[in-house]
Amino acid sequence: RGPPLSTPTARSRRVESLSKNPSAERQMTTIAVTAEAGDETRVAISPETVKKFTGLGCKVLVEAGAGARSRFSDQVLKDAGAEIVANGSDAVGKADVLLTVRRPSLETVKALKSGGIAVAMMDPFGDRAALDELAGTGVTSFTMEFMPRITRAQSMDVLSSQANLAGYKAVVDAASMFEQAMPMMMTAAGTVPAAKVFIMGVGVAGLQAIATARRLGGIVSATDVRPATKEQVGSLGAKFIAVEDEEFKQAQTAAGYAKPMSEDYQKKQAELVASHIANQDIVITTALIPGRPAPRLISKAMVESMKPGSIIIDLAAERGGNCELTKPGEVVDHGGVRISGPINLPGTVPVNASALYARNLLTFLTPFIDKEAGELKIDWDDQLVQGTLLTKDSKVVHPNLQPKPEGE
Ligand code: NAI
Repeated sequence: RGPPLSTPTARSRRVESLSKNPSAERQMTTIAVTAEAGDETRVAISPETVKKFTGLGCKVLVEAGAGARSRFSDQVLKDAGAEIVANGSDAVGKADVLLTVRRPSLETVKALKSGGIAVAMMDPFGDRAALDELAGTGVTSFTMEFMPRITRAQSMDVLSSQANLAGYKAVVDAASMFEQAMPMMMTAAGTVPAAKVFIMGVGVAGLQAIATARRLGGIVSATDVRPATKEQVGSLGAKFIAVEDEEFKQAQTAAGYAKPMSEDYQKKQAELVASHIANQDIVITTALIPGRPAPRLISKAMVESMKPGSIIIDLAAERGGNCELTKPGEVVDHGGVRISGPINLPGTVPVNASALYARNLLTFLTPFIDKEAGELKIDWDDQLVQGTLLTKDSKVVHPNLQPKPEGE
């Protein structure tokens, strides 16, 4: 995901202390967790990570009620070692590290102790003006979505931890909306046919969707443009359907993501999908290309070829949708085919989503917590630090977010 961030000459490991504390008494790195705004149900801490952070010598301040929607009550967090603070900005004002799920408000960031860092899913490709404002506060911030996809960072990968739950929940929601049973049932009164389920995009969410749909007894097929997915689909017991031409063989970037496909490929893909989708009962779409609008895979005509009662769940709704008729946050009924464009599906399983996200944050931060010194020591040469560093010194510094040269 882009070249390293810091100056290339810096081969020597440069470790910089962020929170110098002159007092002679024992210092502690202070971590603040605030309640999320709006509809967000998740929280950036769990009882497990409170225990681990306190075990590392940190003080953990949690705004009262922050964990409630994830069923982490103030009492449970307190029992795990957190200090519950009535007012979020009081917690932030003392913090070396602010942990949130979504991009924190400017007001919250401004309250952060001088030299403190903010770590969240900052939605780096969304609302650029607000991102520039965030940078303008001078805060050093990290965005977890940019975690490099290398083996060492798998346990810090928030896209995976959240997408996995979204893939599961999409199938469960589809099964619940579908007015027929999913598995084949042979009964004395007759046979109920198995539902046909088609998964489009076989990344983390798609793989979990395949596994879940198979467990529920569906007849599952799946498509992707990355060749590596063919074997993965087969190993989960689903049928792989794709245009497997020369372009398909080259469709994966070094970072493991899909490339945008040519117009010619898209045309061939649309023909293949059109013939397959007409017979499907449930379609789950998850196709994404980082930093771009979601590829359009299902046209209005394709929806119209499906049987009334069929269900489409479009997990790409927030990024423009894989289906032409998707409306983010709504269920659209088009001739009896219902198209759901859920936003924040992980937030509908907040207990797990928060626990996994909190663990991702803990694993990322642990190497930088110096128990003896009671200070946060960030290794600015670390690949994961460079990969996730979003704003510093009043600028948006991430290479993926710099203006592109003409012609790109
Ligand atoms: P994603 O969320 O960016 O995209 C979802 C899927 O949509 C991808 O499989 C992509 O190939 C597919 N797609 C894109 N355009 C398409 C099109 N036109 N038609 C059909 N499908 C299309 O992907 P995600 O879930 O983030 O995973 C990407 C890869 O990264 C996977 O191979 C995954 O296994 C790998 N990965 C590696 C990790 C690590 O090593 N730390 C951690 C997590 C994932």
